[in-house]
Amino acid sequence: MSVQNLLSSFNFTHWPEIHYGADVVRNIASALPQNGQKILWVTGGRCGIFSTYFEAFVRINGINIADDQIVQISGEPTPQMIDDVCAKYRSRGISKIVGIGGGSVVDAAKAISAMLPLETSLFDHLEGVGKGLALTGSKIPFIAIPTTSGTGSEMTANAVLSEVGEQGYKKSIRHKSLIPDEIWIDPSLMTSCPPLLTACSGLDTFTQLLESYLSTKSNVICDALAEKGLRLVIDNLEKAFAEGSQDTNVRGSMAIASLLSGTCLANAGLGIVHGLAGPLGGFFEIPHGVACAALVAKANQVNHRALKERSSLVTNGGVDFTQKMANVGRMFGAGHKSDDYYCEQLTHHLFEWESRFSIPKFSNYGITKSALPKLVNAASNRNNPIELTAQEIESILQHCL
Ligand SMILES: [Fe+2]
Repeated sequence: MSVQNLLSSFNFTHWPEIHYGADVVRNIASALPQNGQKILWVTGGRCGIFSTYFEAFVRINGINIADDQIVQISGEPTPQMIDDVCAKYRSRGISKIVGIGGGSVVDAAKAISAMLPLETSLFDHLEGVGKGLALTGSKIPFIAIPTTSGTGSEMTANAVLSEVGEQGYKKSIRHKSLIPDEIWIDPSLMTSCPPLLTACSGLDTFTQLLESYLSTKSNVICDALAEKGLRLVIDNLEKAFAEGSQDTNVRGSMAIASLLSGTCLANAGLGIVHGLAGPLGGFFEIPHGVACAALVAKANQVNHRALKERSSLVTNGGVDFTQKMANVGRMFGAGHKSDDYYCEQLTHHLFEWESRFSIPKFSNYGITKSALPKLVNAASNRNNPIELTAQEIESILQHCL
C-alpha cells in the first residue's frame, strides 16, 4: 500500500488573501473602506475594546471607532447572538466586517458577514438542526485578524455556532463565499495569549492537522500542508507555552500551523477527536480547545491499536494509515525502527504534552461517567482512518474524566 493514492480525485477550495508578519497590522488602514463607509468591528468579550492588543491596534492606525460600531462576543457564539447583531445593524449600511480575536470571534464575524444581507434567521441555514436552507453566497466583505493559533477558522468556509444544554448542539453554516476575503496574521497580537490557552489552542491545531492527514478524504495537497504544519507545531508549541511566549517567530510559526490546519480540515475533514468535540461542546460548557487537547493522546492510541488489530480488514483506497501515523511519530526523532514503534512514539509524546501542559480533566466541566453513553451515541466517526467500536470511543472519553 502507498502512503497516499495520488490517483484519487479531489477538489480544493480557494484561499483568502494573506498578510503576514510581526506588526503587519500597522498597514491595516490600506484594507479598510474610506469615504465614511461603515465598518463593524467584532471582538472578544474576555478582552474587549480595552485589551492591550486592540488598543494598540487602534492607536497605531489612528482609526476612530465609535462605540456602536463594536460588537463584543462573549464565549462561543449562538444563533440567537448572531440574529440579534444582524437585527441591530442590518439597516446601517455596513460595508465591511473586521473580526479580531480567537476562533469564536472569527466564527461570529464570519456568520455576521453572511447573515447581514439576508432577512432570514441563521437557524434556518444551520446544518443538521435547522431547516438547512442553502446560503446564497452573498455577504458583507470580511477581514479576519486571528489572535490565537487554534481553530484555523480564518481559512474555512464554515462558521460554527452552538447552543449548550440537554438538547445542545455545535453546528455550522457553510458556503465557500464564507472564506474570509483577507486575513491579517500578526504574531505581535498573539504574545499575550496565556500559557493554558496557548497549549489548548495549539493542541487543537495539532489535532486538526493530524486528523486531516489521517482522514479517509485526505489528498496529496492536504498531506503536504499537514506535514509542514505538524512540523511547525512540534518545533514551536512547547516554546510558545513557555519562555518563547513573547517570541514573534514562535508565535508566528504556531499561527501558520493554525492556518494550514484550517485549510487541511476544510478540504480533508476530521476524525474521532472532532467527532466527539462537537457533542461535548453542545452538551457541556467546555471550550473546544480543551476538549481536543484532552482527547487527542488517547484517541491516537486507540486508533493505532484498532489499525493494528483490524487494518487488514479495512478498505481504505490503498492508503496505509499506520505508515502515515508513523511519519508523524518520526517527526519527534527518527531512527530505523518499525512503523509500529513510531506510532507508539507519537502517542507517547501526546501523553507527555497532556501532562506537561496540565490539560484540564472533563470533570472540571461537570462531565461525569453517566454522560458517556449519550456522548458515544452522538459521536461521529466520519473520516477517521478506521471505524471505531462504541467501547473504543467510550475508552477515549473515560481517559479524560
Ligand atoms: Fe478543532
